[in-house]
Amino acid sequence: MPGPLLPLNDGYELAFGTVKALILAGGAGTRLRPITHTRAKQLVPVANKPILFYGIEAMVDAGITEIGVIVGDTREEVMEALGDGAQFGAAITYVTQDEPLGLAHCVLIAKDFLGDDDFVMYLGDNLLEQDLTAFTAAFERERSGTTAPDAQILLKQVPDPHRFGIATLDSEGSVVKLIEKPVEPPSDLALVGVYLFNSTIHDAVAAIEPSPRGELEITDAIQWLVDHGRRVRCELLTGWWIDTGKLTPLLEANRLLLERIDTQIDGDVDESSVIDGRVHIAGGARIINSTIRGPVSVGPDTEIRDAFIGPFSAIGARCSVTSSEVEHSVIMDNSIISDIPRLEGSLIGSHAKVIRTARKPRSLQLMVGDHCQIDVE
Ligand code: TTP
Repeated sequence: MPGPLLPLNDGYELAFGTVKALILAGGAGTRLRPITHTRAKQLVPVANKPILFYGIEAMVDAGITEIGVIVGDTREEVMEALGDGAQFGAAITYVTQDEPLGLAHCVLIAKDFLGDDDFVMYLGDNLLEQDLTAFTAAFERERSGTTAPDAQILLKQVPDPHRFGIATLDSEGSVVKLIEKPVEPPSDLALVGVYLFNSTIHDAVAAIEPSPRGELEITDAIQWLVDHGRRVRCELLTGWWIDTGKLTPLLEANRLLLERIDTQIDGDVDESSVIDGRVHIAGGARIINSTIRGPVSVGPDTEIRDAFIGPFSAIGARCSVTSSEVEHSVIMDNSIISDIPRLEGSLIGSHAKVIRTARKPRSLQLMVGDHCQIDVE
C-alpha cells in the first residue's frame, strides 16, 4: 500500500526548479446539462465560489504560480473569470483545445507551455479537502532519491470502483496497472483528478492511440510509462474528493464547503428575522421576516423575504427569494424564487425564475438552466 501523505505544514521546503500547473477547464460537461449549455461547469459556484477557483487557489497555496489552463467552447467565460491570474497571485497562460479529445490530449497541446518542467495536472471540476503541498513535496523528495518517480498519482478508496479509473499496485506501492471504468475492478483504488508528471509524459502522450471512445486517455499514457520501465508513485488520499461533474456530487461539494464557513453578517437583517447557526450574509443583502438556518451563504444584494433558507444552501448575488423554503440547494446569481413551498436538492442557474402561480403546495427538486423560467401550477 502507498505511504501516507506527509503531514501538512511540516516545514518541508519545496526545492523544485520550476513546477507548473496544468488545469483542465475544457470538456463537454454533458452530465450537467442543461446548466452546461450556457456555462462552463467549472464555473458553477459551490458555497458561492466557482469550483475552478478552489483548484487555482490550491495550486498557489502549494507554491505553484505558473498555471496553464486548458479551455474549450466556454473559453470566453473562463478567461473572463480568471483573467491573467493576478487576482490569485498566479500567472495564467491559456491553451485552447478545439475539441475535448481527452485528458492526455490536453498534455499534448500544452507542450509549448510546459516545456521540460515538472507539472501538476488538475481536473478543473474536481475538489479536494486536502491541500496539495504535501503531495507535491513528496514527489520532489522522492525525485532526489535513487528510485526517482517519473509520475505520481493520487488514489482514493471508493465503494463503486467500476465508475472510475482504477489502479493496481505492487507490494512496494508502485503502480503496475491502470484500467478505465473496469467491469470487474481489480481494486477499489480510484484515480483522483490530480497527477504529477516530469517531462517523460510528453513521450507517453505522443505514443498512445485514442481509446474506443475516441479520447487520448491519461490512464493509457500513465500505463505507457509503467510499461516502459518508468516508476509511477502513488499517494493515498484520506480527505474527501469530489468530481463535481453531476448534480448529486455538486450539491455534496456545496454541503462540505459550507460546513467550513464562519458566521459573517455584512448585510441587513431585520428584527423579525432569525439567524441560526453559521451563516454568511454578504454586503447589500437584505433578510426580511425570514429564518436562515446555517450553514448558509447569501450573496451580495440578494433579498430574502418571508422565507426559510435551510442548511446547505448557497444563494448567489442579486437574487430574490420570496415566500419560499429552500434547503440543500445552489441558486446562482440574479435568480428569482417566489412562492415555492419547498425547493430541495436543486441547482438553479443564473437569471432563472421559479415562480408558483397556483396555490396548491408542492415540494420540488429541480435543475434549472440559466435564463429559464419555471411556472409551477
Ligand atoms: P470529464 O468530466 O471527464 O469530461 P467532460 O468535461 O467532457 O464531462 P462529461 O463527461 O459530463 O461530458 O473532464 C474532467 C475535466 O477535464 C473537466 O474539467 C473538463 C476537462 N477536460 C478538458 O479540458 N478536455 C478534455 O478533452 C476532457 C475530456 C476534459
